[in-house]
Amino acid sequence: MKKYVPEPFRIKMVEPIKMTTREEREEALKKAHYNMFNVKANMVYIDCLTDSGTNAMSDDQWSGVMKGDEAYAGGESYFKLLEAGRDIFDYEFIQPVHQGRAAEKVVFPILLGEGKYAISNMFFDTTRAHVELAGARAIDCVVEEAKDPSKIAPFKGNMDVEKMERLINELGPENVGLIVMTITNNSAGGQPVSIENLKQVYEVAKKYNILVDIDAARFAENAYFIKMREEKYKDASIEEIIKECFKYADMFTMSAKKDAILNIGGLIGVKEDAEFFQLVKGNCISYEGFVTYGGLSGRDLEAMAIGLYEGINEDYLAYRIGQMEYLASQLDDAGIPYQKPVGGHGIFLDAKAILPNIPYYEFPAQSLAVELYREAGIRSTDIGSYMLGNDPDTGEQIESEFEFTRLAIPRRVYTQAHLDVIAEAVKNVKERADEIKGLKIKWEPPVLRHFQAHLEPIE
Ligand code: F0G
Repeated sequence: MKKYVPEPFRIKMVEPIKMTTREEREEALKKAHYNMFNVKANMVYIDCLTDSGTNAMSDDQWSGVMKGDEAYAGGESYFKLLEAGRDIFDYEFIQPVHQGRAAEKVVFPILLGEGKYAISNMFFDTTRAHVELAGARAIDCVVEEAKDPSKIAPFKGNMDVEKMERLINELGPENVGLIVMTITNNSAGGQPVSIENLKQVYEVAKKYNILVDIDAARFAENAYFIKMREEKYKDASIEEIIKECFKYADMFTMSAKKDAILNIGGLIGVKEDAEFFQLVKGNCISYEGFVTYGGLSGRDLEAMAIGLYEGINEDYLAYRIGQMEYLASQLDDAGIPYQKPVGGHGIFLDAKAILPNIPYYEFPAQSLAVELYREAGIRSTDIGSYMLGNDPDTGEQIESEFEFTRLAIPRRVYTQAHLDVIAEAVKNVKERADEIKGLKIKWEPPVLRHFQAHLEPIE
């Protein structure tokens, strides 16, 4: 088993969590229509639904909250954030927004519309939704090795560059409005993208005059993996690696609820195109609020400016990625399949392999999530066919390439013992895998259905 990397912090404030009985959890599942988003948080013991906005802020960030400048226009916290953004990413223009999907909503309609395509190593679900809401189509183009959870490779989040170039030619370069590089690649398991790959993608994009956006939700975790795994950068600092990554894009859209260690926030960066940034500001004022607050309060801007630096601290990142590796090594010892090597923000259990009796249209990853909650009050989420939903053209259920049950780990929140509880629950559930039944949909909304749909067990 891998050693746990000790926390580079101590605990100053605690938040009690409830211990529940199996009967209480069974009742909670029924009430929630077997949708983990409908389970009340106070009925969850360890909440691994997401690492987004569930992070613990530092004493520095909380004191920043007290100092937040709440001026409608030109507040000091805005300028502090601007400075942090410019310093870390080396981009000229920085625009706060209230979260990641707000950045997508502001930026994507400028570049995409009917008949257009966007290509990504992999779109996260809201990112895909905003491409489609803009009238365009979203195409994933991740490297083949990402699709084999048992295959160990250093950069399973990469774009398949040859396939991407073929696609551009097939679709017509004038129809490809945007390339999105998601770092780390969340949907593929929090898998990193190499600088070499970012560079190759950017070169092809420039050849065809297509803009590149970095979906930067987990840019710091990605930079740490680059330092560990990309030979050329092993002696570079995290700060240097981040600047190098962002050289190979024209803009970024970021959910700051992840690597900036916040509870709310988002960011847009534009490298140098002032005309384009003017359009961004226009949409931001319409959808989010005036440029100098972007849908956030001054205290949020202040906490973001501080969190951006805490999130790129190398000792913190060693502890953060160390937590994932510790949990993964326990699963290795028990022979439990997951997307290997472990990603940056959680374990993606290979539900297809753990529950081989459940076909994709009965949602194996969602069924496993339900079972983990039943077993130990652990909340996880489906990243598979259930999340993917139906084809927008035919209405048919799409078969996902993966059926992952994601256990996302919030930042600076859970201890080594919590991770042990998770490992034990997964082992217990795997032992009774052949008793576990699939699920069917009773009701679903037209977009992003997994947040709201009602399910029931198949008897
Ligand atoms: N891009 C990526 C790669 C994401 O993982 C997310 C959110 C977003 C964009 C949207 O950001 O939530 O701030 O609007 N991911 C969360 C998750 C929800 O659980 O993985 P948001």
